Amino acid sequence: MTISNAKISAVEMYVPEKILTNKELEKMVDTTNEWILERTGIRTRHICEKGQAASDLAAEAVIKLCKKRGISPKDIELIIVPTVTPDMLFPSTACLLQEKIGADNAWGFDLSGACSGFLFALSVAEKYIQTGIYRRVVVVGSEIMSSIADYTNRETCVLFGDAAGAVLLEPAEEGEKGIIDILLRCDGSGGKYLYMPGGGSLHPATHETVDKKMHYIHQQGRRVFKFAVTEMANISREIMKKNNITSDQVKLYVPHQANMRIIKACQANLGFTDDQIIINIQKYGNTTSATIPLCLYEASQEGRIKKGDYLVLASFGAGFTWGSILLQWEIENS
Ligand code: ACO
Repeated sequence: MTISNAKISAVEMYVPEKILTNKELEKMVDTTNEWILERTGIRTRHICEKGQAASDLAAEAVIKLCKKRGISPKDIELIIVPTVTPDMLFPSTACLLQEKIGADNAWGFDLSGACSGFLFALSVAEKYIQTGIYRRVVVVGSEIMSSIADYTNRETCVLFGDAAGAVLLEPAEEGEKGIIDILLRCDGSGGKYLYMPGGGSLHPATHETVDKKMHYIHQQGRRVFKFAVTEMANISREIMKKNNITSDQVKLYVPHQANMRIIKACQANLGFTDDQIIINIQKYGNTTSATIPLCLYEASQEGRIKKGDYLVLASFGAGFTWGSILLQWEIENS
């Protein structure tokens, strides 16, 4: 069996047109633009129209991805959709997406890893490439967080946005490294701090579960905050140390975008300069499994990363789940 590294060969994103501002949220819940900006760093988030589903956002992103790479959706062999907001519990969003984009030769599945879903999915996709089973795997994080946010609860509704971010994974060519190392973790004892209790097998949907708002995100923000700051920094340091990479060798640190203060605390802890970190939470809010591909897309578009650069990706989310990936960027700037 030939083992070859996997590389990200294209990245794309899609956000719905409609923008929800902090000023608009002021009219919906007891909050202020100042509070949201100071405590979270978020200015705006994109929100879907009624009737749009995660597979629709994913389809937009993946069609653009194929065009960019000059391939047909028929060339895709596997589609993995990390999401906490699938179109429905089944069939999987991956199946619905496969049909929508005409990926006739692909199979696929959804993956539940909350905000770490994108990294978890990349780790699976990487194995299929490494082992030579497939040559073209798509990972598309697609979330309609507005579908599970309670717009009467100021503690959660200001945080989230809708988006899809997609990458294509292909075998690295000679001399390329692509994905170098992956560290992933979970700790179920944190499950009680961030969850959506209703609609699953434990609490199937009833009038009562809806009346109790169990179909919305429930979060103890401070608990999540503390764990996120510590663990995202720890795992990022661990992956760099394990691979003998110092922080000044890293071109770009790409953290999950949940809160500006979490990102800034990780940056300070790891000693990265402002040039070494990407932050776009101000525009999109927390889009769960889409934040990291959104960052990769924007960094690439803005010319902040070039072929051969070292990147460290890091995530933290419900579960608790967290992880880090070290990679070399292998896309030539166009
Ligand atoms: N507007 C005004 N006041 C508010 C708002 C708001 N939108 N939200 C909360 N407050 C109030 C609270 O009621 C509280 O008031 P009190 O002191 O009178 O009781 C006060 O502000 C402080 O509340 P805290 O919850 O302590 O505020 P904190 O500074 O911790 O910020 C936040 C809250 C933004 C949620 C923060 O804790 C956070 O970002 N946590 C992490 C979230 C996260 O990372 N989630 C993980 C990813 S999601 C996923 O995996 C799906």
